[in-house]
Amino acid sequence: MSSFLLELSYLLGSVTFVIGLKKLSHPESARKGNLLAAAGMGLAILATILFHEHNGERIGNIGWIMAAMGIGTLIGWTMAMKVKMTGMPQMVSFFNGMGGACAAIISMVEYHSHPEGAAGYFLVVFLGLVIGSVSFSGSMIAYGKLDEKIKDFSAKWLTVFNLVLLAVIIGILVVAVKSPETFGPSVLWILLALSLLYGVLFVMPIGGADMPVVISLLNSLTGMAAAFGGFLYDNQIMLTGGILVGSAGTILTVLMCKAMNRSLLNVIIGSFGGGGGGSSAAAGDQTVKEINLTDAAILCSYASKVCIVPGYGLAVAQAQHICHDLEKQLEAKGVEVYYAIHPVAGRMPGHMNVLLAEADVPYPKLIEMEDANGMMNSTDVAIIVGANDVVNPSAENDPGSPIYGMPVIQVWEAKNVIVMKRSMRAGYAGIENPLFFHAKTKMLFGDAKDTLQKLVGEVKMT
Ligand code: TAP
Repeated sequence: MSSFLLELSYLLGSVTFVIGLKKLSHPESARKGNLLAAAGMGLAILATILFHEHNGERIGNIGWIMAAMGIGTLIGWTMAMKVKMTGMPQMVSFFNGMGGACAAIISMVEYHSHPEGAAGYFLVVFLGLVIGSVSFSGSMIAYGKLDEKIKDFSAKWLTVFNLVLLAVIIGILVVAVKSPETFGPSVLWILLALSLLYGVLFVMPIGGADMPVVISLLNSLTGMAAAFGGFLYDNQIMLTGGILVGSAGTILTVLMCKAMNRSLLNVIIGSFGGGGGGSSAAAGDQTVKEINLTDAAILCSYASKVCIVPGYGLAVAQAQHICHDLEKQLEAKGVEVYYAIHPVAGRMPGHMNVLLAEADVPYPKLIEMEDANGMMNSTDVAIIVGANDVVNPSAENDPGSPIYGMPVIQVWEAKNVIVMKRSMRAGYAGIENPLFFHAKTKMLFGDAKDTLQKLVGEVKMT
């Protein structure tokens, strides 16, 4: 009976994961999807504690398990409650790394469970260890980069070194699977050390505009590592969860590569997405034109179609609610308003969708980049709110630019462009943006929330 209840709970848990994941694909249902999947996981954990048996023995050490879960929950809860919206990408990266670390620890522990295990068993143990460790250390470096504590570092020798290191890891893994006695148990520590090092070194050179790809790749690695844990324990729910995370991460990686117009190999060994040295049109003695709030309000109020392009600065300023107010004020004047969403705007996949959903912006108003670009030449005013790299024309016309080839929102096709930002500072990729000097562009300097608040006031009076 208990094994039937256990299997049933795993089945229910797996179904809630699938439904939860489906719900996560839409901002309106995402919160429910998250809760549903978490409830499924809770059910599976409870059922395991209550009903799991091994050689006729129930699970022991329940006090320790509860204490560990309690401490983990407390830390996770506190971090999630305290985190600012702009710190979310770092936190997601950190949590992702913890998943990788768990998978690696499972492999380390399970290695000793079946010393006479078959080659297939050792293969799964070592893959879980290697992938989990790479995901852990790589995610920690990604965390540091997103938090701006770690700078990109790239060098030709590093690319070669990384390839050699990867080959050595694979070589040791193959030998250890074929003849476990070659290294003995020390292979665990060798693979752990080399994989941790590889995770650090493979993420170090990738930066700037390429970060979205590496983040989604690390997600998929954690999923895969968890799935190997599921194999080891012959546990369906862990396997299903791991496969779902791994495949969702892989799909996201493919989408991010498409969004950046880069191949995965190019991102991993190319490492030219890093910040710093773009060749893009230097500011030189070019000047920017500014616009005041009254003129900006008149321009927007008398337009037929206005496009708002949100970027990371919208999250920094927490200006999503006031942005929605501007949209409503303009619509009350008969202006058609839509949002152009770049897939890598902000610092995490779907960042802009989450922000705007928080402000109750109707989802149909969010237009994906390709469709938005088709609408741009019939748009009277494009208002850029805290976006930079995703509207940088160098991506299209400067082969020397680090972001050359990345599709961007072609705001310069609109009749007028208003850019809201605080200064002339560069965006995440660290490069100059010629859009700011474009004949159609006018700058509206200041914090996005403050500027939008004043602009809404002016629009009301226009
Ligand atoms: P960015 O290019 O990073 O530009 C954001 C701009 O917002 C900055 O130039 C900044 O200029 C402005 N800003 C910051 N705080 C502001 C505030 N309070 N008020 C007004 N403006 C403010 O952002 P983006 O266009 O969204 O592009 C995203 C970049 O991040 C891409 O390079 C992308 O590859 C990278 N990235 C994305 C992800 C994911 S998964 N989406 C992950 C990692 C990295 P000022 O300082 O002058 O105000």
